[in-house]
Amino acid sequence: MKKIVITRKINPTMIQKLEKDFEVVVWNEAEKPMPRERFLEETSDAHGVLAMLSDKVDEEMLSNAQNLKVVANLAVGYDNIDLESARAHKVIITNTPDVLTETTAELAFTLMLTSARRVLEANRQLMAGEWSGWSPYHMAGTDIFGKTVGIFGMGSIGAAFARRLSGFRTKVLYHNRSQSELGDSLGAEFVSFDDLLSASDFILCAAPLTDETKYRFDKAAFERMKESAFFINIGRGAHVVEEDLAEAVEQGQIRGAALDVFENEPIGKDHPFVGMDNMTLLPHIGSASVDTRNNMMNLCVNNVMEVLNGGKPITPVK
Ligand code: DGY
Repeated sequence: MKKIVITRKINPTMIQKLEKDFEVVVWNEAEKPMPRERFLEETSDAHGVLAMLSDKVDEEMLSNAQNLKVVANLAVGYDNIDLESARAHKVIITNTPDVLTETTAELAFTLMLTSARRVLEANRQLMAGEWSGWSPYHMAGTDIFGKTVGIFGMGSIGAAFARRLSGFRTKVLYHNRSQSELGDSLGAEFVSFDDLLSASDFILCAAPLTDETKYRFDKAAFERMKESAFFINIGRGAHVVEEDLAEAVEQGQIRGAALDVFENEPIGKDHPFVGMDNMTLLPHIGSASVDTRNNMMNLCVNNVMEVLNGGKPITPVK
């Protein structure tokens, strides 16, 4: 029987589906990753792996897993996987595009609204019993309507975010490696990275993490942004030089930031962002709706089954 390793507790119906034809080993913890040693041990004779963002699928793991044919990553991003090594070892990698697009765009929108209207700051004040009553500028925030919103990474999530903006009467700019038909079809304007930085009131980073996009938001980038601008990140933490962002917010170089992702996750109380009023921080929950997570798991399971049954992967990473 072929062996499949699942590195986190997932929906039991998906496990039962696999157990009909395969030996399945599940790390039965929802909150904690499978320890690295155990991951290497369990995958050494596995044919398929259902992996999470927190699992490093690297040369060490791949060269140790002689029978491995497929790794299905429960995410659209795959920066936890060494694609070159996977290619060299002839291991197919799949991800979960499309099924999480709308859910992640909804969270990006939530971050934008929450930071613009100081929702968490206002809530913290009230919960601490520090609300002293109505006053003209009490917790006054920033409007979104009539503003310019810049999207860095006009892929499917960027486009789903742009579609949501249409009710807000905003001007939408985007920057990609090259002009995108998708962006143009939504009435968004393709601009240089510099123009995106200097013209936007809100900037959303929705790009995949690559060598080209890593640390793209650094001191120089924040210096080019408006003092009234907000930076929102649902991509990956390493798109940003975090010390530079902390400094930019602290010194009023930009108005605030709203982040769902961090370079080293999870972050703790000692992280420089924690405790800053102009930061809206979430624990990487972009695609975390129950329906979407079930759809992502289902897609992973189907990808693994297809490959191990001799078929073609449904959503291979190219
Ligand atoms: C992804 O799919 O890459 C998300 O970051 C996971 O929530």
